[in-house]
Order: sequence, then structure tokens, then C-alpha cells
Amino acid sequence: MDTKIKLHEVEITDLAFDGKAVGHIDGKVIFLKGGLPGETVLCEITRDKRRYYNGITREIIKKSEKRIDALCKHFEECGGCTWLDLKYEDQLAYKQKQVKDCIERIGALSGVEIAEIVPSVEQLHYRNKMEYSFNRYDDTFTLGLHKRGSFHDIFNLDECHISQSTDGDLVRWMRDYIEKNDIPVYDVTEHHGYMRFFMLRQTKQTDQLMVNIVTNYGDFPEKEKLVSEMTQAFPQITTIIHGQNGQKSNIAVAEVEETLYGPGFIEEKLFGKRFRITANSFFQTNSLQAEVLYATGFEMLKPSADDRLLDLYCGTGTIGILVADKVSEVVGVELVSDAVIAAKINAEVNNVANIQFFEGFVKEFLKSDFLKDKSYNIVIVDPPRAGLNPKALKELVKLNPEKILYISCNPATFARDAQKLVEAGFLLPKVKPVDMFPHTMHIELASVFYRG
Ligand SMILES: C[S@@+](CC[C@H](N)C(=O)[O-])C[C@H]1O[C@@H](n2cnc3c(N)ncnc32)[C@H](O)[C@@H]1O
Repeated sequence: MDTKIKLHEVEITDLAFDGKAVGHIDGKVIFLKGGLPGETVLCEITRDKRRYYNGITREIIKKSEKRIDALCKHFEECGGCTWLDLKYEDQLAYKQKQVKDCIERIGALSGVEIAEIVPSVEQLHYRNKMEYSFNRYDDTFTLGLHKRGSFHDIFNLDECHISQSTDGDLVRWMRDYIEKNDIPVYDVTEHHGYMRFFMLRQTKQTDQLMVNIVTNYGDFPEKEKLVSEMTQAFPQITTIIHGQNGQKSNIAVAEVEETLYGPGFIEEKLFGKRFRITANSFFQTNSLQAEVLYATGFEMLKPSADDRLLDLYCGTGTIGILVADKVSEVVGVELVSDAVIAAKINAEVNNVANIQFFEGFVKEFLKSDFLKDKSYNIVIVDPPRAGLNPKALKELVKLNPEKILYISCNPATFARDAQKLVEAGFLLPKVKPVDMFPHTMHIELASVFYRG
């Protein structure tokens, strides 16, 4: 350790929303990378802001009983599993508390019951999708995940305990292939080179595996050789896709896509129904727990045969298709064209006839003529982390449905939206957190708002 660095002794009192440890130095709050509540640590201040410090824990003087050995060799550097060193039951308790804090502090709502968080069916190897990145450093390169807190730095991944167990082998194989065949890797700061992302999606109930390779513009060199060698090494691969993205922004979504092997999609099952997953469409990343989340939502919503339902932010149509046989009619709305195509196919292969899908922004759909002469008494919203767009929320209030089932992957934006819905006259008796993302600080929840 550099002896010139000034270290401060801090008692950790809480965990912040982003998983950081919270303590105080002379009355001013410090958010630390490393440390658990109940621990005393020696830390370094890395940033002095007006109202708080940021810092890094350098040594733990007194350990918490909640601490366990993180089972992954990449734990210290990986930006993924912030809480792999915290017992699972304590992770759940903090998530529960953070939902309560968000509702009370951000939403300024009192009297909302926070039901007990539902643990994940699987705590390891639960993720069905991983996005690994390439980066070049002078004459060498890496393929793996982002280093903790870094946009550009990628470490070479060998193992991952929340993704599928073959991921480590596949990533190592791909790294070797690129090196042996001298294929240039993209430099994310200079913006040149070829290999950008390596995405793996693997189903739980059907054993299908999609490899999606995203590069800069240009055909994949000797693609037949890649397909033949990769499928020989991993016969469980069912489809390989090559996507091209020449944009500077570091997004793995391709502008041009070519299927190199197999059908170009995989299919997962939820409650016995089949769902097509394409390279760029959203699908819940924890397949087994997705059933628990949806069942929790439906149990809270209690749909009935006369209900006419809007499934907003519907992705590949999973929620609408699963609820369709309990209601009279469903309309799904989704922005991503690929997902809408998959949603229509999903409805067809599952023989669901009382559902239709619209491609577009939710806020535009809610203002559209389609709703002029039709009424929908139930709305399901499952927005991305940003929550409801303010215009969409206003239109939703105007629609004034009897019930809104709000599924959220971000309690902070949920609390912000909940406050607005309650101000507009809706009632929110209960929120139920569901753990979809063990060992990470991400939190999912289901709730129903009732017309007041
Ligand atoms: C959290 S996912 C939910 C998907 C689906 N309900 C499910 O459970 O699989 C959010 C979805 O909203 C879509 N989306 C994001 N912004 C949107 C918008 N403004 N209008 C419509 N859809 C949007 C995304 O493409 C994504 O498919």
C-alpha cells in the first residue's frame, strides 16, 4: 500500500441504492466501494463533493458477520456482482429496505405496504443473457466484462457465476480464435478496429444457445470457418448471428444483422408457452424467476373475463400473451420493431387470438386515434429503468383505468412515478419486491394502482 495516501477510519452504517457502503467522516457522508454495514474500515477519499465524499475501502479492520467469501475470482475487479460477498438473506433484506426508502423518501408516500421480497428460484447461473465486450490496448486486447466503475476498461473473463456455466469456456474460446486468426479488435477510445461485442443468450427450459457477434462494419472474415470451428467446439449452440454496428456509441445493438448459423433466434418457455427471442429484443434475464414475477403481478392484478387490457412496453409480448386467456382483449405496445415482430409470432405459435400489437412510443400510442372509440379498463406498464415518460404518464392518467399493474426494474423511478399517480388520485396499497438479480444491487417490483 502507498504509505503517502491518507486513510480514514470509518464505520459502515448502511448500503446505498447503487450498492455502495455508507459511512461518515466528521459528519459528512461518504459512499465507499467496499465494506458492509457493521464493519469498520480504513478508506481513501477519491472525490470531495460539496455534500458528500466518494471513496475506496483499503482495509477492513472489523468484519461483519454478514460477510462471506465471494466465490468468483473476478469479484474485486468486476462491475457485475457488487454483493457476492454478502449473505443472500442479507442482500434480500437490503433490497427490501431500499424499496421502502425509495417509496418514503423519493415518492414521499406513507402507508404503502412493502410485502416481503420474493427470493430468486436460482441464486447462481440464473442469467440467460450476457453481453461481453472487446477492447484493444496497444498491441494486446481483452474480452470480458467492464471493470468496476469503468466505461472502457474490460478485463479478461474466465468464469462467471451468475451467467450460464458454458459462458467462461465460450469467452475463452472466442478470445483464442480472434488472437489465432489475427482479427483486429475495436479500440473504444480511438474508434477503429473490428471486434466489438460477444453476446450469449441461453434458454433455461429449452436448452437453446444464441451467439451474437457484433463488429464494426464489414463481413466477418472466413465466416464458414468460424461457424464450423465454433459449433464443433460447442455443439449446444443453436444459432450464430453476426451484427454490424459502426456507430461510436458503445451499444451492442446492430444496424445490420446476418444469421450465420441456425434459425437466427432462440425460444424460451414460460408457463408452457413458447417465446421467440431475437438478438436485440428484450426478454427477462432470469427465466425461472420471470415466471415468479409475472405470477406475482397477475395475483395482485386479479384480472377477470370482461377486462380489456393494455400491455404497455410489452417487449416480445410475454405478459400480454400470458394474461390473454384471463381477459377479453389485449393490446401490446412496444418501440423495438424486432420485438413487435417476435410478439406477433409468439401470439400465433401459442394460439392466442385476442391480442394485437402496435409498434411505437407509448406516449404516442396513448394519444392516438386508436383509443378514441375504445376503452381499456386495465393497463400493465413495464417500462425500462428510466420509468414512465412524463407525457406517457399524463396520458395514462387521462385514460383513467380501473387498475394499473406497474412492474418496475428501478424503485427510484417507480417511486417518482408512484407519487405522480397518487397525486392524480390513484391508490397504492402495496408493493411487492421480487429478486430477479441475486448478488447485484438491481431490484424488481410489482404493484397495482387502483382508481380512487
Ligand atoms: C423492461 S422491458 C419489458 C418487456 C416486457 N414487458 C417483458 O416483460 O418481457 C421494457 C420494454 O419497453 C420497450 N420500450 C422502451 N421505451 C419505450 C417507449 N417509449 N415506448 C414503447 N416501448 C418502449 C423496450 O424496448 C423494452 O422491450
